[in-house]
Amino acid sequence: MRILITGATGFIGRTLVMHALRDDSITEVIAPVRSVEKLRTQLTREGVPESPKLRIMEAEAPDWNFRDLGAVDRVVHGAGVLFSRSRDAYFRINVEGTTQLLQTLRGSPRVVILSSQSAGGPTPKGAFAKKVGDSDRPLSWYGASKLRMELAVREMAPRFPVLLLRAPMVLGPGDMATLPLFRMVRGKIWPKPGWRSKYFSWIASEDLVTACNAWFALDTAEVQTMHIAEPDVICDAQLMRTAALVSERRGILLPVPQMLLRLVALASQFMPSIGEKVPSLTPDRAREIWPNRWVLDTEPFYEMTGWRGTATLEETLARTLAWFRREGLI
Ligand SMILES: NC(=O)c1ccc[n+]([C@@H]2O[C@H](COP(=O)([O-])OP(=O)(O)OC[C@H]3O[C@@H](n4cnc5c(N)ncnc54)[C@H](OP(=O)(O)O)[C@@H]3O)[C@@H](O)[C@H]2O)c1
Repeated sequence: MRILITGATGFIGRTLVMHALRDDSITEVIAPVRSVEKLRTQLTREGVPESPKLRIMEAEAPDWNFRDLGAVDRVVHGAGVLFSRSRDAYFRINVEGTTQLLQTLRGSPRVVILSSQSAGGPTPKGAFAKKVGDSDRPLSWYGASKLRMELAVREMAPRFPVLLLRAPMVLGPGDMATLPLFRMVRGKIWPKPGWRSKYFSWIASEDLVTACNAWFALDTAEVQTMHIAEPDVICDAQLMRTAALVSERRGILLPVPQMLLRLVALASQFMPSIGEKVPSLTPDRAREIWPNRWVLDTEPFYEMTGWRGTATLEETLARTLAWFRREGLI
């Protein structure tokens, strides 16, 4: 079985590649990346031995410029832009980069496209969890580009099955987005946006891989949009306290007025030094910080596949911290 994984130099893509290399049912792992050197260095640091199963090729979205790819059986499309100051970059890479990828595919692959919870927007007021059929209200350019990507894929009516997987916050080793959290809990004061608790769905990167595999094992033939998440819902204070617990640190949560954060986000537009420290705090992505509920209804995916996430927040953050320590980042 041949699998194509895009975004292999990224947090989720690298996890997928490492799993695929260990999976005996997979005979070839094809990883198109912008920098072959970057992926080789990352895999060496992860202790992944050189494997004749791994074929790394240089390619870039949106054109991809693949040559002699041949037919593949499975695809996970993880390449994408998550943080940018340019609306155009989101749409060019996340939308065009996906449609062009699908056009290059040969054979009858089963394709998982990593979309995002951001495509649908937060949980509707008064609801416990957002359902796939609820109206989509993306708040950011990122979310709008992911929603546009989903619509573009449906308009293409691909001749193979496609899963548009709306994942919530993904946590695990290699997730650079959580580095500011671990650095923050080393201090005594932990600023948290707003007074009210914010509730989230989340998923560990390892469980995201098993969820993809659960869908690959089915024989559906449609384009489907699905939510996935761990069974538990967490809140912002719990995330901070758990990061502190595994770091063996103590501190005090300090709710920060959202207005202040809005000002910092605005300032990040004009002061690159702020943007470099917290790339997620662009005025665009910051809009996703204000809602108090980002909880997903995952029942349809559970019913379809029988898959259940098994990771705990504490164990996932402990492994993430160990990775940062090994990389010398903390
Ligand atoms: N992380 C989360 O919490 C989360 C949640 C929901 C959904 N997702 C989705 O999951 C996917 C992977 O996320 P991630 O967290 O792994 O992101 P990431 O660490 O930022 O990785 C992004 C990957 O996309 C690649 N990429 C970016 N622009 C590209 C281009 N023009 N051509 C080819 N490759 C390009 C990057 O390559 P370089 O290394 O060359 O930059 C990198 O390999 C994304 O589609 C994201 O929207 C993530």
